[in-house]
This record gives sequence, C-alpha cells and structure tokens, in this order.
Amino acid sequence: MIEVTGMTLLHIDSSADTVDDSVSRRLTDLFATTWRARGGRAAHRHRDLCADPVPALTPAYTTLGRRVEREGFVPPAKVPALIENAAEEREWELTLPLIDELLAADTVLLGVPMYNFSVPASLKAWIDRVTFPGAYADPDTGESLLRDTRVVVVMARGGGYGPGTPREHFDFQTPYLRAYFGNLGVAPENLHLIAAELTLTGLLPQLSGLADVAADSLARARAAVTALAAV
Ligand SMILES: Cc1cc2nc3c(=O)[nH]c(=O)nc-3n(C[C@H](O)[C@H](O)[C@H](O)COP(=O)(O)O)c2cc1C
Repeated sequence: MIEVTGMTLLHIDSSADTVDDSVSRRLTDLFATTWRARGGRAAHRHRDLCADPVPALTPAYTTLGRRVEREGFVPPAKVPALIENAAEEREWELTLPLIDELLAADTVLLGVPMYNFSVPASLKAWIDRVTFPGAYADPDTGESLLRDTRVVVVMARGGGYGPGTPREHFDFQTPYLRAYFGNLGVAPENLHLIAAELTLTGLLPQLSGLADVAADSLARARAAVTALAAV
C-alpha cells in the first residue's frame, strides 16, 4: 500500500513512443514538472504502460471477479479470503498494486495517444485489470471512493476531430474515457480531457496546410496542462 503523504500524483503514460517522439509524453511530463515545482509534500508515481505492460487477463482473474461480485461490495482487503487457487493468487498479486496506486492518488494523470480512433491496447490492459469488482466502492455505503479523485487525461492524435470537422464522429477516445471514469464514480467536475490535435501535420502531405491549427492546438494543450498542474 502506498503511504499517502500530502498530495499524490499517479502519472500513467501509454504511448509506444519515447518522450522524444511522443506528444502525450511531453505533455504529461510538463504536467508532472509543473506539479512538482509547486513544492510541499508530494509523491509522484510514474507508471509507463509500454516499458512495463500490464498483463492480459486470464480465466483466473474473471473467475475470481465473478466470485467477488456474487458477494456484493467486497473491499480489496477481503478478497484474499475468497481466493481458491494459485492461479487466482497470481492474478490478485498482479492486480492489487494497481488498485492501491489508483486509490492512493489525489490526481491521476493519463497520457493517451489515439491509436485507431481509440485508446492504445497498453492503456486498455491497465483499465481492464484495475477495474476489479467492488474495488472502488465504499463497503458501507456503496458510494465511489474515487468521487474526489482528479483525473487529467492528455490525449494526442495525428488528425483533427474537433466539432464540425469531417472526422468529428471518429473520436472514440473522448466519449469512451468520459464514460469509463464517470462510471467509476469520478465526479464530472474532476475529470479533465485535453487534446493536442493534428500532431502528424509535419509528416502527412494531406495535413500540410494545417500547421497553424496544429501549433495552436498544441499551445492550447500546453496552457491547459500547465494551468491544471498549478492547482
Ligand atoms: C498504431 C497507431 C495508430 C494510430 N491511429 C491514429 C488514428 O486512428 N487517428 C489519428 O488521428 N492518429 C492516429 N495515429 C497517430 C497518433 O495519434 C499520433 O502520432 C499521436 O501524436 C500519438 O501520440 P504520441 O505522440 O503521444 O505518441 C496513430 C499512430 C499509431 C502509432
């Protein structure tokens, strides 16, 4: 269990590229640097889902999940009593640290590149594993333990998906992540989604006329990230 001292930032990156080539990694880095510069007692936990991938689920995970779900709101501390074999034990060992990290965070910062109109598989693997039944429900009230958690999602995409653009409805990142964190119980006012668009303008000839729009999008994303990191 991570000790919560002052403010805790859980910083998760999911781009397959390194910080030299990744817009989302540079933006989350800007957030983390700004956030740390505020001083005070702060813990910064960085999880790189590409360098350290979250393993895919196995039947033991889903079997344990169903058993836990049948019991109602079982807090993570009571899950070990429901484990029946070594495979389930292993799944729980892979899962509990991720749950603890998420519960310990005051702010969750996610770097999310757009891959095929949605989130990368590396992030989806984290989502599927960390969303264990009952882990975020107060066992007494059923209320979400993530209600006050601030979630800052920093997205980067090669194309443009803004309102009124031809591919507006191809953006499955924004609605998906809104639905996911909303369903987890994160309060709408604590969920912030920022997108740097048209990151491939310098690469793709068909986007070459949009360099100014891309630069403006990146500048806006940097400003939004800096402002959110300062509070
Ligand atoms: C596997 C892969 C799939 C991609 N799919 C899309 C896509 O569907 N739409 C898009 O606009 N850009 C797409 N791109 C471009 C990335 O969204 C763009 O390069 C973005 O900057 C990636 O974030 P990053 O710079 O943080 O790595 C894709 C890139 C890769 C590597």
